[in-house]
Amino acid sequence: MSDNQKLRVSKIHNGTVIDHIAGGQALNVLAILGIDGTDGEPLSIVMNVPSDRLGTKDIVKIEGRELSEAEVDVLSLIAPAATINIIRDYDVVEKHRVSRPENVVGVLECPNQHCITTENEPIESRFEVLDEGVRCVYCDTIIREDLAAHILAG
Ligand code: CTP
Ligand code: ZN
Repeated sequence: MSDNQKLRVSKIHNGTVIDHIAGGQALNVLAILGIDGTDGEPLSIVMNVPSDRLGTKDIVKIEGRELSEAEVDVLSLIAPAATINIIRDYDVVEKHRVSRPENVVGVLECPNQHCITTENEPIESRFEVLDEGVRCVYCDTIIREDLAAHILAG
């Protein structure tokens, strides 16, 4: 396909393009980053388009914001194959893969209603990242599946 045939949304001027998100996960990626569009920042979301590597993929373009590596590492939990492209003046100036962080803090909600982080204490959730899921460091509850369902509301 020519570039014009492939292009579904415009290139961005400055910001971050998160590419190679597994098809269907773009909204979860935005949720885990705490981005819901209400700040007024231009966002482009492309979902379920063909990808050689993934079958189908999603792409998120965030204009005017360069996401830091620490910020994007949490999304490795739901989009392990994602590529982060930093765009300046229309050029890709940085491209990196996400890597799994050792801990995720304040991102997921512990499913244990009696966990100290879910009772009305001012304690942020903290999960240790395992090969097969995440473990609450306070009560040892393990979340193995559907991490996206446990993302704390912004
Ligand atoms: N992109 C964009 N705006 C720009 C530059 C790039 O939206 N000004 C997007 C491209 O559409 C693509 C991603 O950023 O989705 C990465 O761009 P590029 O590295 O040029 O594409 P590829 O070589 O296809 O990337 P990869 O090798 O990671 O698949
Ligand atoms: Zn807990």
